Amino acid sequence: MIYVRNAWYVAAWTQDLEVEKPLAIDLLGEPVVIWRSQRGDIAALENRCVHRLAPLSLGRCEGDKLRCMYHGFLYSRDGHVSEIPGQDVIPASAKVKSYPVTEKHSWIWVWMGDPDKADEALIPPAVGFDDPNYILGRGHFDYAAEARLISDNLCDFSHLTYVHANSFGAGDDFAKTAPNIAALDRGVRFSRWITGTAGPAARSNDELIDAWSSYDYLIPGVLLMWSGSFKRGYAEECKYGPPQDLDDAIRGVTFTSQAVTPMTEKTSRYFFSWGPHVKHGDEALRDILMGVAGQAFAEDKTMIEAQQAILDKTETPRVLPSAHDRGVVMFNKLVERLAKEERSVDASAA
Ligand code: FES
Ligand SMILES: [Fe+2]
Repeated sequence: MIYVRNAWYVAAWTQDLEVEKPLAIDLLGEPVVIWRSQRGDIAALENRCVHRLAPLSLGRCEGDKLRCMYHGFLYSRDGHVSEIPGQDVIPASAKVKSYPVTEKHSWIWVWMGDPDKADEALIPPAVGFDDPNYILGRGHFDYAAEARLISDNLCDFSHLTYVHANSFGAGDDFAKTAPNIAALDRGVRFSRWITGTAGPAARSNDELIDAWSSYDYLIPGVLLMWSGSFKRGYAEECKYGPPQDLDDAIRGVTFTSQAVTPMTEKTSRYFFSWGPHVKHGDEALRDILMGVAGQAFAEDKTMIEAQQAILDKTETPRVLPSAHDRGVVMFNKLVERLAKEERSVDASAA
């Protein structure tokens, strides 16, 4: 399994990290505990007490410290043990790994690589609940599958036609047309016009529109997409490039942020939000969209977990790429290149 380590991984929705309630999550196979102090500061440590390896996530917050509730070792935010009950001397080895952690766009992000390289500028520009332009809902699903299979799914929307025939109702358009695909520094951009379509949001079949959608799939596995419906002929006016102005949309402008986090080799957590632009909807529409998303993402989960089960029964899995795999291959190659660069830096430093 290949991962980019020098990247921010989504570990939780901000709203799910309650004050003084430590949260446990495996990230890239490492047990991590994250907690928020009364003051609001967050910290992330290896979730494994140095004493007898109990999970610190069962611990108690004390000020900005965390106490293991097995035998009482007290941990500072940097992972050092600052108190061992009944013992005056604290050995230098009494510490656990600490991770750079930050909160942005309503997600808690953990940096899994070299702490000296943790750069907040590398956090993907998701849209959080603090953005006044969107009315969002949120959720997450746990997968019994390798994260890469979910990334592959998100880099090839031709599956919408089949997997989501009963939810997004994408029609044949997604399977029969290719998106425009462009390489980004740390990701791949997929965009497309579907012209003269009724569109899932159409009020009647004779109200044809040009539907635009564009998403970036970014390292380590974050999808940011906005969509909108424009008057028929608008795509041509834009020479089939991006809309000149978001305000030109006649309806249906929405934004979704999604993140795929590898927990262990074959388990992953998939976070998602979706909702309308304030000019194009309200809480009621948000709830409808979230209902559709919940159904659609459950469809992906069913397919991908079943795919994982077959992969597990296959001695040497081989794939037969199709034309729609272009973006999948681009993203996987980017992951391989960045991971390789990290390994060569690590090797030369060793
Ligand atoms: S296992 Fe944590 S104090 Fe003993
Ligand atoms: Fe899907």
